[in-house]
Amino acid sequence: MEYILAPSILAADFGNLRQDVETVAEAGAQYIHIDVMDGMFVPSISFGMPVIKSIRSCTDKVFDVHMMVEEPGRYAEDMKKAGADLLCVHQEACRHLDRTIHQIHDLGMKVGVALNPATPVETLEWILEEVDMVLIMSVNPGFGGQKFIPYALEKVKRLRAMLDEKGLKTDIQVDGGIGLGNVRQVLEAGANIIVAGSAVYQGDAAVNTAAFCEIFKEMKK
Ligand code: DX5
Ligand code: ZN
Repeated sequence: MEYILAPSILAADFGNLRQDVETVAEAGAQYIHIDVMDGMFVPSISFGMPVIKSIRSCTDKVFDVHMMVEEPGRYAEDMKKAGADLLCVHQEACRHLDRTIHQIHDLGMKVGVALNPATPVETLEWILEEVDMVLIMSVNPGFGGQKFIPYALEKVKRLRAMLDEKGLKTDIQVDGGIGLGNVRQVLEAGANIIVAGSAVYQGDAAVNTAAFCEIFKEMKK
């Protein structure tokens, strides 16, 4: 299974965003994790399509857009136009999740479904075949720099077992409170895409990105 680092630009310096994206892309990150917040689904507001569009030309890495937005299907087409490659929607924010998943695929993007800490993985049982990635939140969404919630590891294990049982190789992403100190546990539980905001952008982003990639290499041995 390929391990992928997805630095969250929520922790970047917005005044220097293009450079901050290029730095992690050049240092080995395969995805750029882009946190969109609407002030409704989560308390905070971050940024939207114009910002994504303005950094699209920095890199050809995968733009992994995490929609912390009520009824994200309303923005799927605009997100595609802005440059999203993978659109990740929250199970809790979609009244008709199956429809939203198909809408995103029909637009030519990959689909992820995110689960808040308190949402059971079993809620995805009937749509697992339809999605490219499941995002297990290991903090309550809305802010960077929070503490990792330990029971998220149990959810990752259970989800990986469900996928194995169905013979699916679906990506499992984990987001929130991950650093160099606990990333091994997250990978061992069965995740393969790691989101890291503060752990990448606090300090030297190139050095931190390379340190995550080094751990990925060790784990694969
Ligand atoms: C939280 C966001 C995360 C956040 C992660 O709502 O979805 O992507 O940026 O930040 P850290 O890695 O600092 O917990
Ligand atoms: Zn996120």
